[in-house]
Amino acid sequence: MLMNINVKTGTAEKESAEMLAFYVYEDAVIIGGALASCNSELNNVIAEIIKKKEFVGKLNKSVALFTYGKIPANRIMLVGLGKKKDITPDKVRQAAGTTASVARDMGVSEVVAVLDSIEMPSSALGEWTQAYGEGCLLAGYNFVRYKKVPQEEHKELKAMTLLFAGKEDISPARNAVKHAQIIAESVCFARDLINTPAQDKTPTALADIAKKIAKSLGFQCKALSTPELKKLGMGGLLGVSQGSNQPPQFIVLEYNARAKNQDTVVLVGKGITFDSGGICLKQSKDMDLMKTDMSGGAAVIGAFKAISQMELPLHVVGLIPCSENMPSGTAIKPGDVIKFYSGKTAEVANTDAEGRLILADALGYAEKYKPTAVIDLATLTGSCVVALGTVVSGMMGNNEELKKLVKAAGEKSWERVWELPLWEEYQEQIKSDIADIKNIGGPHAGAITAACFLSKFTEKYPWVHLDIAGTAWCEKNAPYTPKGAAGIGVRLLVQLLRDWTRFPK
Ligand code: BES
Ligand code: MN
Ligand code: ZN
Repeated sequence: MLMNINVKTGTAEKESAEMLAFYVYEDAVIIGGALASCNSELNNVIAEIIKKKEFVGKLNKSVALFTYGKIPANRIMLVGLGKKKDITPDKVRQAAGTTASVARDMGVSEVVAVLDSIEMPSSALGEWTQAYGEGCLLAGYNFVRYKKVPQEEHKELKAMTLLFAGKEDISPARNAVKHAQIIAESVCFARDLINTPAQDKTPTALADIAKKIAKSLGFQCKALSTPELKKLGMGGLLGVSQGSNQPPQFIVLEYNARAKNQDTVVLVGKGITFDSGGICLKQSKDMDLMKTDMSGGAAVIGAFKAISQMELPLHVVGLIPCSENMPSGTAIKPGDVIKFYSGKTAEVANTDAEGRLILADALGYAEKYKPTAVIDLATLTGSCVVALGTVVSGMMGNNEELKKLVKAAGEKSWERVWELPLWEEYQEQIKSDIADIKNIGGPHAGAITAACFLSKFTEKYPWVHLDIAGTAWCEKNAPYTPKGAAGIGVRLLVQLLRDWTRFPK
């Protein structure tokens, strides 16, 4: 259960709370306003700490003091924001995450945060407060389903109050907190799916989860299973799944299905619930992480959870091909040729390049919706991680306008993307001697040749592909992303759809 966030106006030094949090900038720690009042009540101890440089306001650093009854709040915490000239909404998101996790680790269950001390630009009060709310909620995420945590060790920050002095209209802040709550719950929902072991999120289980959430939030969901997939000729999804005892599922989500005269955006997510590599078996080191190979699919389900609570004037379709990729006597073999939904054929030169095979069917199927735009998200290549690391997702596509929108949504949500070129010269590499194309290129530019493969199925509509192999998993704790699944893509997709600008078909 995520913590509760309230917004109110009041006088900070008069608040009785377990903890009062203030924000300070690094370049000039000014003890003004409510912080100055608290400082004088506390015999100048805050000024002293700053003078002695025990705390200088560096981003994500904090210091906490007991107040010994000198003010109504039990503790004061100062949280650094870094240099004022470098402040961004994401740094606010981080500082909020730091506040929430430091307070929680101290055993505090309720914090009043003095948001005036951030000095947000009043024109962006909503945007910055949303970032703040997301930071608090995302930092509190904890995946405990498979642990029996003794009660006394289980610390939880239960509530956070965002306090404004009330000098300006704070209704944008209230609205922003509602959005932050919807978005963070959706990101955490995606994180839960991704962190869940493959044994408990087989394609069938995933389809059931999607149906359940669709029912509770009022969007449509169906799952196509083997007989239907055979009828449709989805040789990619069927081929990848044939080595597993678990049958494949093709999840279809639809929001605003009956909307007339509205743009149709199709979101496609890779749903490999476990990627062993198949006959081209992966090495065992870190193979456990391949339970995360459905992160693209989780992002799509998460985005649907959020947008179905936002009443967007858009028709949105979600397509998630789901399968395990396993080796067995029935598994697909290197050299086999498969035929996709679109009728094109591919030589399977490497069974570990399975993502593009299931996506090819989904991208072909997307055509049926006459989409305005299609965006796919996939943990597609290790090569993308080599190229860009874990900070940013790779973006490739066939439409400048759509790439611009995705890039802007990435900046705004701080789930940034960086474009890699999808130039014609690269297409050479996926030529096959015996089929239309083959599923791997040469040793270089693997993220790009994977996208080249996908591009053969997206010729009929504007399309962007996001390779999230590097950004889906967080190797160590970060201010608002605990170690584990990041839930990447949800914030970006929601931002993109909320800000959707029509462009001509
Ligand atoms: N799921 C993997 C890509 C991946 C790697 C995701 C690391 C997250 C972290 C994908 O199916 C894969 O195995 N790709 C191969 C392609 C190669 C065989 C052409 C890769 O990147 O090594
Ligand atoms: Mn693979
Ligand atoms: Zn994979």
